[in-house]
Formats: sequence, structure tokens, C-alpha cells
Amino acid sequence: MANNSSADKQRAQELVCVTGAGGFIGSWVVKELLHRGYRVRGTARDPADRKNVHLHTLEGADERLSLCRADVLDYDSLRAAFDGCHGVFHVASPVSNDVELIPVAVEGTRNVVNAAADMGVRRLVFTSSYGAVHMNPNRSPDTILDETCWSDYEFCKQTGV
Ligand SMILES: NC(=O)c1ccc[n+]([C@@H]2O[C@H](COP(=O)([O-])OP(=O)(O)OC[C@H]3O[C@@H](n4cnc5c(N)ncnc54)[C@H](OP(=O)(O)O)[C@@H]3O)[C@@H](O)[C@H]2O)c1
Repeated sequence: MANNSSADKQRAQELVCVTGAGGFIGSWVVKELLHRGYRVRGTARDPADRKNVHLHTLEGADERLSLCRADVLDYDSLRAAFDGCHGVFHVASPVSNDVELIPVAVEGTRNVVNAAADMGVRRLVFTSSYGAVHMNPNRSPDTILDETCWSDYEFCKQTGV
């Protein structure tokens, strides 16, 4: 990619970490960051797993993408992954109704936020879900959803959505 503008040149020096880089959303975030000229460090629990191979084929990956091993339940691995990073996209979160995985998502996110703060990361983006805000039968379908809107927990438990 040609870095002609000064904004492109500045980005080329910025390192951004994407947790869960090999997942569905993570892969798209990595692709877009590379396209925009950033240096990218992606995390995976096993970077050598073949499910992450596609990341190395992305345009710009040879020069600007590295993968490192990190688990959201391993605080030190997150600190190492975020070292020197300008920004973090936290995408590594299990998507499941399995109650055993909920603590992984909650504790993992807490670890990511704290480790990013520890390491002086300037900006953290967390991928939430439409499911976090949408499931509320007591709200008009015309309501514009914002950060004050949450899904109704009892409704979700009753319906299993
Ligand atoms: N897919 C959608 O349409 C969509 C829409 C809106 C929001 N989201 C949200 O975006 C996030 C990612 O969704 P996705 O569809 O991309 O899921 P996905 O493809 O299953 O990817 C999840 C990633 O999380 C990583 N992961 C799971 N447990 C981990 C752990 N203990 N430590 C470190 N990494 C772990 C996995 O990496 P490894 O197994 O390789 O380590 C995997 O790459 C979720 O929070 C989801 O709610 C998704």
C-alpha cells in the first residue's frame, strides 16, 4: 500500500493489537487495519493453528502483521501482547449460551481492560453485540438504541435467546 499522506505515514508507525485475530470479526479488523497502514499484532491462543493461516495471506501481512500467543485468562500474556501498542481491539470473546463460558468472557474482558491500562494503551475498542441491547420486549421496536439500552436479563433467561 502506498503511504502518500502524512496521516498514512503516522499510522504506519502505530501498532494496534487485535485479540482473537483469527476469528470471524478479528480477521476483518486485521484486514482493515493493514489496509489502512497500521502495524498489527494479532493474538491467538495458538498462533500456529491452521485456522489462523489465512491471516498471513492478507495484503500487507508480510511486512506489518505479527501474531503472538495470548489467553484472555492469562494476564501476563495480555500485558506482553499490548506492549508498545497504541490501540487494542478486544474481539476475543466466546460467543455462546454456555454458562461455563460466561465467566471467561467477563473475566477475560476485565483482564484486557486492566492490562491495556497497565501498558499505557491509548485507545481500547470492545466488540459488543446487538444481543446485548436488543432483547427487551418492553421497548417499542421504534426506539433508537444507544448506550442506555440493555437486553432484559429475565426475558433472555426465560426464552433462551
Ligand atoms: N459474528 C458476528 O456477526 C458478531 C456481531 C456482533 C458482535 N460480535 C462479537 O464479536 C466478538 C467475536 O465474535 P466472532 O464471531 O468473531 O467469534 P469467533 O469467530 O468465534 O472468534 C472468537 C475468537 O475468540 C478467541 N478466544 C476465545 N476464547 C479465548 C480465550 N480464552 N483467550 C483468548 N482468545 C479466545 C478465539 O481465538 P482462538 O480460539 O484462536 O484462541 C477466536 O479467535 C464476540 O464478542 C461477539 O459477540 C460478533
